[in-house]
Amino acid sequence: MHTLRVALLGCGTVGHGVLRLIHENGDSIAQRRSIRFDVVGVGVRDLAKPRQTYGYKLTDDLSGLMAQDIDVAIEAMGGVEPTLRLLEGALERGVSVATANKELMAKHGAHLIAVARAHRAELRYEASVAAGIPVIAALDRQLAANRVARIQGILNGTTNYMLSRMADEGLSFDQALQICQELGYAEADPTADVDGFDAAYKLTILASIASGHWQDWNRVQRQGIRGVSLQDLDRAKRNGQRIRLLAEYRAEGHGHLSVIPVAVSADHPLFGVHGSTNAVVIDAEPVGTVTLVGPGAGAGPTASALMGDAVEIGCNLALGIRTIPHAWRSEAIE
Ligand SMILES: NC(=O)c1ccc[n+]([C@@H]2O[C@H](COP(=O)([O-])OP(=O)(O)OC[C@H]3O[C@@H](n4cnc5c(N)ncnc54)[C@H](OP(=O)(O)O)[C@@H]3O)[C@@H](O)[C@H]2O)c1
Repeated sequence: MHTLRVALLGCGTVGHGVLRLIHENGDSIAQRRSIRFDVVGVGVRDLAKPRQTYGYKLTDDLSGLMAQDIDVAIEAMGGVEPTLRLLEGALERGVSVATANKELMAKHGAHLIAVARAHRAELRYEASVAAGIPVIAALDRQLAANRVARIQGILNGTTNYMLSRMADEGLSFDQALQICQELGYAEADPTADVDGFDAAYKLTILASIASGHWQDWNRVQRQGIRGVSLQDLDRAKRNGQRIRLLAEYRAEGHGHLSVIPVAVSADHPLFGVHGSTNAVVIDAEPVGTVTLVGPGAGAGPTASALMGDAVEIGCNLALGIRTIPHAWRSEAIE
């Protein structure tokens, strides 16, 4: 049995999901993979906030937590600072990282991967794109021998849920957004979702893996769904189509990246993807078309992805090896 000493950063939706998964499935993971998770501390901002911690120790001293003798940092905190500084510090000490942070990876992925390589640490980020769907594992490993021509995806469950309710029930944008906020699908500030930033970050990560050079997320042509009217949705319905916030990468030239509302027809693989479900369609040679569908957000699916990465890191450590991330060509693309 190998014990993995873990620092968990964040105990919100996702962080709590990680604690719960370790609490409920820890014995089963130990039995199946011979890895036991020892959570040395959980970093939060507000110690007074009521929350269930399953007896794990909370701290608001994140630097102190990261300075402890740990094997892996599981990051479920979000944002760029202080997260970037904390994860950089961990990787520089050879501590491996599993993160759910798409914004951080899209903006600083090439840099963090370079730091991880320099210090022979693992950096895994399956949870950062489409949560419960193992799309990064698929692209990065199992489809590695393919040439990826195109990726299309519904990468933001909030906007897909809103568009579904607007089309099916004639709800306005504001009504659909309010329902999403009441259900906890959307933040008080919905900008990242409805303006397409969230999907753009995720697309950047997928396109970087597919193309072999870290893409600049500023190059994503991005529109969001604020401009989608009920008339647009009605017109699409009359034409037998549905409007989806389509994230698309095409491998032409230096790569075309866009997040734009698009009317898709009944024969499109994303036509039947409703509500908060995510889906990714990968067109590659020689495999053909691969479609992955599943839960793209939420505590359980995101914790599943983070802990899948943590289990792999633990299994590698038990064998005395590290899976060092690939070197990315991160040169600027005109
Ligand atoms: N929610 C999802 O479905 C989902 C899906 C995929 C990926 N993700 C990613 O997972 C990450 C976490 O998302 P979430 O929804 O779990 O967020 P959340 O509910 O807001 O939780 C964030 C947690 O991090 C802590 N935190 C934030 N900033 C901090 C700081 N400066 N110092 C100390 N603690 C800090 C918060 O502490 P307090 O609790 O004390 O405020 C909270 O426990 C994000 O990168 C997000 O993009 C989320």
